[in-house]
Amino acid sequence: MIEPIRDQFRRPLRDLRISVTDRCNFRCTYCMPAEIFNERYQFLPRAQILTFEEITRLTRLIVRLGAVKLRITGGEPLVREELETLIAMLRPIDGVDDLTLTTNGFLLPQKAQSLREAGLNRITVSLDSLDDAVFRRLNGNRSSVEKVLQGITAARQAGLAPIKINCVVQRGVNDHTIVDLARWAKDEGYIIRFIEYMDVGTMNGWRLDDVVPAREIVERIHAVLPLEPIERNYRSEVALRYRYQDGAGEIGLIASVTMPFCGACSRLRLSPEGELFTCLFATQGTDLRAPLRAGASDEELETIIRGIWADRTDRYSEVRAAQTTPRDHKVEMYHIGG
Ligand code: GTP
Ligand code: 5AD
Ligand code: SF4
Ligand code: SF4
Repeated sequence: MIEPIRDQFRRPLRDLRISVTDRCNFRCTYCMPAEIFNERYQFLPRAQILTFEEITRLTRLIVRLGAVKLRITGGEPLVREELETLIAMLRPIDGVDDLTLTTNGFLLPQKAQSLREAGLNRITVSLDSLDDAVFRRLNGNRSSVEKVLQGITAARQAGLAPIKINCVVQRGVNDHTIVDLARWAKDEGYIIRFIEYMDVGTMNGWRLDDVVPAREIVERIHAVLPLEPIERNYRSEVALRYRYQDGAGEIGLIASVTMPFCGACSRLRLSPEGELFTCLFATQGTDLRAPLRAGASDEELETIIRGIWADRTDRYSEVRAAQTTPRDHKVEMYHIGG
């Protein structure tokens, strides 16, 4: 095993989240509100986005520094053409234990099989409600529930397992549908994770009142489908786990607002245009594309990456509560992929 590099709080580098595009075919109100992300919105031009070769080269270096888990995100990663090719390039990197992807599921009916064949291990699909009207309102009317369910089925048939489902819970928006979603996931054998709505970026108008605390989510499900807590799978896992007392299935809670987990945060994030971010709530990243395209050697790039991680002191979620004024500039979710 590689001895991972450590940051200022001695946290090891273990995960790399790679955002492959800033584009998405949905317009979730909490991420890319349709009023802002309309036809006039300027997404990154192709030339500014890292090529698959560039992503693979940086990933190889970051894996050499300790990362064992790779997650592909976006925007919506499946709108990047030929994503399977990238998966097939990342798969053989020595030291990668887990290669996975977070998607809205819309393109999975076409893509699940080829992703699996390219070497993807498992998949996480976002689905905020099984109520079609609620779901459409949340995704800017870009998709029915049925379409995402077809994508999830395609993933299952392709052998991508385990399948996780992500639900961002917002009070008064979809919180009345969480028990239905939990029951469905339990019956189907998927691991559902309920995510506290976070103040990512600056465009979603986040308010603390919109957050349903994880504790309350657990209580609401437990009242109908009894639960008991279980251990995390590994120290830096973001989800708190509960299993059903009848022995069939588990759920996860991602409580970044009420129970921050910065103490074990081992995640580095690469943006589509080649910036490295050391926190989901960072105000800025460090550009690697310029040195990469200027012909930097592996050693030179490695030195930059080592330095970024070594200097790292981020623990945004832990300090959020104590802040009097929120950060007014933060990287956006569609850019960094969660
Ligand atoms: P697993 O590997 O299956 O545990 O997935 P994951 O939970 O690490 O990744 P996923 O893309 O499914 O993210 C689930 C939620 O957790 C999203 O809302 C992410 O934004 C959030 N999340 C992931 N990593 C972090 C983190 O380091 N900090 C915070 N605050 N949220 C995170
Ligand atoms: N708060 C919490 N989770 C979010 N996601 C997107 N925006 C937010 C937010 N503001 C989720 C997506 C996806 C995952 C990567 O992050 O629904 O499942
Ligand atoms: Fe797209 Fe995911 Fe953002 Fe929704 S949350 S707009 S699916 S990137
Ligand atoms: Fe890591 Fe930042 Fe999330 Fe804390 S808020 S867990 S430091 S990414």
